Amino acid sequence: MSELNLAVNLAGLKLRNPTMLAAGVLGLSAPLLKRVYESGAGAVVTKSIGPSSRGGHSNPTVVSLEYGFLNAMGLPNPGVDYFSTEVRKLKEDNIPVVASIFAETLEGHAEVAACLVKAGADAVEINCSCPNVKDIGLLGQDPNAVEEVTRAVKDAVHVPVLAKLTPNVANVAEIARAAERGGADGITAINTLKAIAVDVETQRPILSNITGGLSGPALKSVALRCVWEIFENVSIPIVGCGGISCWCDAVEFFLCGASAVQIGTAIMSHGLTIFNSINEGIGDYMTRRGLRSVQGIVGKAHGK
Ligand code: DHB
Repeated sequence: MSELNLAVNLAGLKLRNPTMLAAGVLGLSAPLLKRVYESGAGAVVTKSIGPSSRGGHSNPTVVSLEYGFLNAMGLPNPGVDYFSTEVRKLKEDNIPVVASIFAETLEGHAEVAACLVKAGADAVEINCSCPNVKDIGLLGQDPNAVEEVTRAVKDAVHVPVLAKLTPNVANVAEIARAAERGGADGITAINTLKAIAVDVETQRPILSNITGGLSGPALKSVALRCVWEIFENVSIPIVGCGGISCWCDAVEFFLCGASAVQIGTAIMSHGLTIFNSINEGIGDYMTRRGLRSVQGIVGKAHGK
């Protein structure tokens, strides 16, 4: 295979290839994130970090389903002060880090983002779409709130800011437009889909939180539809996320309008070799189709 260039420039965030680790998976410590980067990811996204440490929901917090996972962790994390040290360690090795953040207030978002960028984060992803924590997740369903929180984070940092959107809305494009108005440099689409699983013996929902976020292959077609609708409505780049487990899934996302993709749940079933195998598959596809860059097929399915 000739030297292929898989690099993408995502609103100023330069990636050696279009794959990223999705937030929430293996993202809590520098050594684990380093392993993910060394396995071939173009960048790593941290677990969502908030202003102070949080225990999260009580067990059970995860259910394994036929086509994915349902989880309601409740945003457990060690807090921004502790996690800044992990970001500093990653930057000693020059690893591109996207800090996923959440908070309950505009000031909280701005502070967490500023701290993690000061520690070296190359970009910020606002998690305004967790389905499992009231108030924080609901933020992502209100266009005005998304616009405001995006603006607050943009005003606090000088690096690219991505808004990660929820599919749990009637009109995802409207929310994407709000993020763009607030100054977002890009959109990550999508977070998990609110769902439920029931134990027929106890005759009760399995998760302690009752509902959780559905991820994995079950989500792919919903995520593709969201990327499609967002692409038609904004001019900032989109990072596709939801059910990607092979190169072909990634290419589908590019064709619908994503410039890069995030991989999360598939790591549980395929292991960390998934990054290299997806990148190799994308490279083979590009060679076979005579493509010189991923950007060349972004949005091509729209036929415009
Ligand atoms: C959690 C957060 C998310 O953003 C998500 O998609 C699923 C779960 C959580 O911490 O509960």
